[in-house]
Amino acid sequence: MGCGARARQSGVMSAKRESPRLYGRQAECERLAKLVDGVRDGGSAVLVVHGGPGTGKTALLDFTATLDTGLRVVRVSSAESETELAFGGLHRLCGTMLDLVARLPGPQREALEIAFGVRAGTGPDRFLAGLAVLGLLAESAADHPLVCVIDDAHWLDQASRRALGFAARRLSTEPLLLLFAVPEPIKDLGSLPTMPLGGLRDADARDLLASVLRCPIDDRVRDQILAEAGGTPGALLGLLHEVSPAQLAGGFGLPDMLPGSTSEVLFAELSELPPETRQLLLLAAADPTGDPALLWQAAAQLGITGEAAIPAAEAGLITFGSRVVFRDHAVRSTAYRVARLRERRSAHRALAQATDACADPDRRAWHQAKALTGLDEDVAAELERAAASPPRPRSSKPLPRRRRMRRGGQKEASPPLRSCFRRANPAPQRSCST
Ligand SMILES: Nc1ncnc2c1ncn2[C@@H]1O[C@H](COP(=O)(O)OP(=O)(O)O)[C@@H](O)[C@H]1O
Ligand SMILES: [Mg+2]
Repeated sequence: MGCGARARQSGVMSAKRESPRLYGRQAECERLAKLVDGVRDGGSAVLVVHGGPGTGKTALLDFTATLDTGLRVVRVSSAESETELAFGGLHRLCGTMLDLVARLPGPQREALEIAFGVRAGTGPDRFLAGLAVLGLLAESAADHPLVCVIDDAHWLDQASRRALGFAARRLSTEPLLLLFAVPEPIKDLGSLPTMPLGGLRDADARDLLASVLRCPIDDRVRDQILAEAGGTPGALLGLLHEVSPAQLAGGFGLPDMLPGSTSEVLFAELSELPPETRQLLLLAAADPTGDPALLWQAAAQLGITGEAAIPAAEAGLITFGSRVVFRDHAVRSTAYRVARLRERRSAHRALAQATDACADPDRRAWHQAKALTGLDEDVAAELERAAASPPRPRSSKPLPRRRRMRRGGQKEASPPLRSCFRRANPAPQRSCST
């Protein structure tokens, strides 16, 4: 069950607005809702949510901010460009509380006014600045229970981070929740309670994927996407963002569809690998199923031995096990993109040769098509035949599930696929090499 649904059911966590459904984060949502309940009852709390990019930190902060509690929510999201502006983050967070500064004791008021540029003076004392922030938040919470949400707190300027960390460690009886999100624990927020976010469990990741896909997907491609996303919701959704469900229905063209976020660092890392290793990575990237038997058969056709795998595996770029899994989609995408066109063609040719023509005619035809300069009519015909093959008579043995899914999806995928080939290759050549 997703968090949104649970929130609506329990009543405790009912949301003001319809927040997107969060898969596999029930425990986290419940913990956050309890903290908010505690603040409503007059208590204070602090929590640092940490997890890598795309694990859903912002989504959980959104969830908290939209809980229908009647609490006031003040929210600030930091940006890398502001890390140099001393007290800039704090100024944005406290922007709506400035009229309360007058209630603070003189030295604290002075420290805050200097920090916010209202009064001339040298950089305020760290201790006084921290006390002043604590005082200001407490005053604000005394007027109305308060939830402060500070996203990407690692990008706060250091002065703000220190002052907020100082205040967070000294909360006592104010009806106030301080909620931070950071990719990994940071010193200025050290010793505060944390909530680490890992990847989603496989079943939850599958549910999330199913929720965004509207048509059948090849089982093997789905498993491969899930394996490489490693349960990170952002990675799953990012991959599918630029791809329509219809495009994925056949599940063939994964490498071409990946978002083109090739970083220079990754590009350089891959370029420095031995040529055979790069070729092996290219083969793996061109096969969206992650099937090791297929990969090594294709590799053998190109004269690539198991030795080639070692540098890539040692660098943690890819894992060769019962499934071939790239570290993430960026590595797969880059391995494909850095290759020259002729290298890609020979990779697809080898994969076509290694693909069983009876068990997997559609994928074989797809590899064949990718291996050609222009459109080969035989290949186009194979694609079309695979798409149009009539359903088997009722009496015949049912197709294995995997094959049924591929066929179901392909009926939608192949006509546009073929028309794409035709548009891209107005003067087809006959040069099938398999
Ligand atoms: N548990 C989840 N279920 C469904 N979608 C999620 C979940 N967690 C995150 N998302 C979605 O994944 C994407 C990335 O999440 P985000 O919160 O921005 O990650 P982070 O802040 O950790 O980088 C967003 O589109 C978000 O809505
Ligand atoms: Mg975020």
